[in-house]
Order: sequence, then C-alpha cells, then structure tokens
Amino acid sequence: KRLILVGPPGSGKGTQSPLIKDEYCLCHLATGDMLRAAVAAKTPLGVKAKEAMDKGELVSDDLVVGIIDDALKKPSCQKGFILDGFPRTVVQAEKLDEMLEKRGAKVDKVLNFAIDDAILEERITGRWIHPSSGRTYHTKFAPPKAPGIDDVTGEPLIQRKDDTPAVLKSRLESFHRQTEPVIDYYKKKGIVANLPAEKKPEEVTSVINKALS
Ligand code: AP5
Ligand code: ZN
Ligand code: ZN
Repeated sequence: KRLILVGPPGSGKGTQSPLIKDEYCLCHLATGDMLRAAVAAKTPLGVKAKEAMDKGELVSDDLVVGIIDDALKKPSCQKGFILDGFPRTVVQAEKLDEMLEKRGAKVDKVLNFAIDDAILEERITGRWIHPSSGRTYHTKFAPPKAPGIDDVTGEPLIQRKDDTPAVLKSRLESFHRQTEPVIDYYKKKGIVANLPAEKKPEEVTSVINKALS
C-alpha cells in the first residue's frame, strides 16, 4: 500500500503511523522527523531548513521533494510506504505523482486527519518525544510510565522547539493556506478517507483499518 497522512499539527499522524506501518509492513517516511534529524546533525540540508521550521513555515518544495525522492529508493519502501507530512503543497503532490509514475506506481489512499483547530494547542503543548525512535507521549493523554523518561529505552524525552502556542499559530496558518488544497487535489482523484481525528487514538486506528481493508 502507498499511503499519505495529511492533517494539521497535533492531529495524530505520528501517533497512528507506527501502528499502520506494523499492520501492513510499510516504511514510514516523516519529512518533519527527517528534517529535525538533519537540523540536529547540522547537515547542509538541516542548516537550510532550520529557519523556516523554527518559524513554523514550510521548508522549500525542492528540499523536501529531494528528501522523499531519495527515501523512496530504500529497499524497505518497495512494498509500500506511509508518507507522514508530505506532500504539503500542491507542487509537492504533483512532483510525487511524477516520481511514482516513473516507478509505475500511484498513491492508493490519503488519510485525512480532520480535527478542529481549537483542540490542537493542548495536544501540542503537552507532547513529549523520544527523538531517536520518534515515540510520542502526552502529559495528559498518553503519559510515559515515569515523567520525562522513554518507556522502552529509559532515555530522556524532549519537547519540540516548534511546539509553542506562537509557532503553532503559524504552523496552522501554513496548513490552512498551503496544505488544505492538497486534500482537494486528492479528493478529485476520489482517494481521500476522512478520519475523526478528535476521537480517542484507538477509535481513530479502527477507522483507519476499515478505510484500508
Ligand atoms: P512535522 O513534524 O510534520 O509537524 P506537523 O505537521 O506540525 O505535525 P506534528 O508532528 O506536530 O503532529 P502529528 O499529527 O504527528 O501529531 P502527534 O501524533 O505527534 O513538520 C514540522 C516542520 O517541518 C514543519 O512546520 C515544516 O517547517 C517542516 N516540514 C515538514 N514536512 C514538510 C513538507 N512536506 N514541506 C515543507 N516543510 C515541511 O500527536 C500530537 C500529540 O497529541 C502527542 O502528544 C500525542 O500523544 C497526542 N495525541 C495523538 N493522537 C491523540 C488522540 N487521538 N487523542 C489525544 N491525544 C492524542
Ligand atoms: Zn508528527
Ligand atoms: Zn482551513
């Protein structure tokens, strides 16, 4: 399966991805995770991406399209993939179609994490992540066994630099202005499944499984 996850910041894309990935043996490509790793390692890509990310703006189409083009070549992605946070502009969506066409493939389903903006600040400001694995926690909705500590490795959890109310506002603006048109792009192709992303994680998972079966 070739899946795209689209939704505003905090809508649950990163929370649902590992579950779908294991269920269907897909690779998980999250452009945000890849960019954060590049920023942390201070690679040339990371240096170029940092300013936009800190402001909650989108990184240039060329940079992210390049990352995805490379990542799709990985052997683990040949059976199928989950794109989490890509495409985020109509230009990115068109480029993705071109990349897949060359490989004789196409997008099977777009999971649209539909949710009201008002719920997102609490989700974003309570989020803690384990950076090396991408595991995600929430102080109220998904607390770790010990505060600030990853359940699996015992390593410390961190908060994302862009998870502040002010930067969230700008991320939401980017979403409505630049990413919602992507949902319409795929609606015209008839491959969008809408998810009730404000519900409990288990309920969202079960709607996903129905949409994919
Ligand atoms: P990115 O990392 O993609 O961030 P985002 O889209 O803002 O999405 P989030 O990761 O914040 O939300 P999520 O939906 O994964 O939520 P989660 O599951 O963690 O992008 C970051 C930046 O990188 C962008 O701003 C941009 O600069 C750049 N970038 C990335 N891709 C790009 C692209 N294609 N083009 C250009 N620039 C790009 O959940 C959030 C919290 O809520 C967690 O604490 C979780 O435990 C909790 N939670 C989850 N589900 C539920 C639920 N059902 N009920 C209660 N709590 C829940
Ligand atoms: Zn995420
Ligand atoms: Zn909107």
